[in-house]
Amino acid sequence: MKELIDLVNKKLDEYLPVSYPEEIFESMRYSLLAGGKRLRPIMCLEACRVFGGEMEKALPTACAFEMLHTQSLIHDDLPCMDNDDYRRGKLTNHKKFSESTAVLAGDALISYGTQLIIDKSDLPAEVIVKVLREHAIAAGAYGIIAGQVVDIAMEGKPYDAKILEYIHTHKTADLFKGVLKAGAIIAGANEEQLKAMDDFGQVLGFAFQICDDILDETSTFEEMGKTMGKDKEEGKLTYTALFGLEKAKCELNCLLDKAYDILKKQNIESEIFNSIINSIREKV
Ligand code: IPE
Ligand code: IPE
Ligand code: MG
Ligand code: MG
Ligand code: MG
Repeated sequence: MKELIDLVNKKLDEYLPVSYPEEIFESMRYSLLAGGKRLRPIMCLEACRVFGGEMEKALPTACAFEMLHTQSLIHDDLPCMDNDDYRRGKLTNHKKFSESTAVLAGDALISYGTQLIIDKSDLPAEVIVKVLREHAIAAGAYGIIAGQVVDIAMEGKPYDAKILEYIHTHKTADLFKGVLKAGAIIAGANEEQLKAMDDFGQVLGFAFQICDDILDETSTFEEMGKTMGKDKEEGKLTYTALFGLEKAKCELNCLLDKAYDILKKQNIESEIFNSIINSIREKV
């Protein structure tokens, strides 16, 4: 894990040098290089490896997806969204720079990610098109944005389990599915293997968001690098708000077991995937 995190960090730094106009590059780099667990790019590299691909070939894609994830965080923190002051242990992008710069830095991170996939990938054009499609779906109104729109719309509204499932699937699991499928596509995975990555991303992403909901109630700023306890304050529709902490923990464990079973059924042996599953389990 540590080696992969270092590799991703080195590449992110290398792919995004500062040039004119400096303010936008500095703002993009500020949030992108502020730390973060790098789960999504690592999952992309690992999905490529387990299906027999060369990890090197997935690096631009892995970094592009981390840029997209960072965009989703910058925009998620804006005053018009969750209105947060801290992210990754530092001031949020709009607090450090300005709201206009934060909006633009987010936009720029999405489009620069696609540029990176096109310019830096040593892959046949038809593979690049398929990878870009995964990136576009995860980023857009069929993916993260769908989840975020409903997440905001449901603030303070009566809780509903079907809507909760919609929010968590789109705002979080879709990105997991996208990175895993993109990595698998680069390796030349078949339809059945892609379906397995889709299923794995759905359960793991869903579990990850339940874990985040639990930690918002139980963890600390020091551990998470962001302000805790805000979901309740804002009347967010979270798994814990709807079902309580105990049921949330139970469902989290159940989903993680399912994630493990999906890998097993495909004979996927991966210390990295296993340690990601375990790290989520151990957090709560
Ligand atoms: C935070 O994701 C956003 C959610 C989907 C809950 P991470 O917890 O992976 O954030 P970083 O990348 O480590 O900062
Ligand atoms: C994360 O949801 C979804 C994103 C697309 C960023 P949250 O709003 O719960 O994420 P945090 O808790 O701010 O990281
Ligand atoms: Mg949010
Ligand atoms: Mg938030
Ligand atoms: Mg949260």
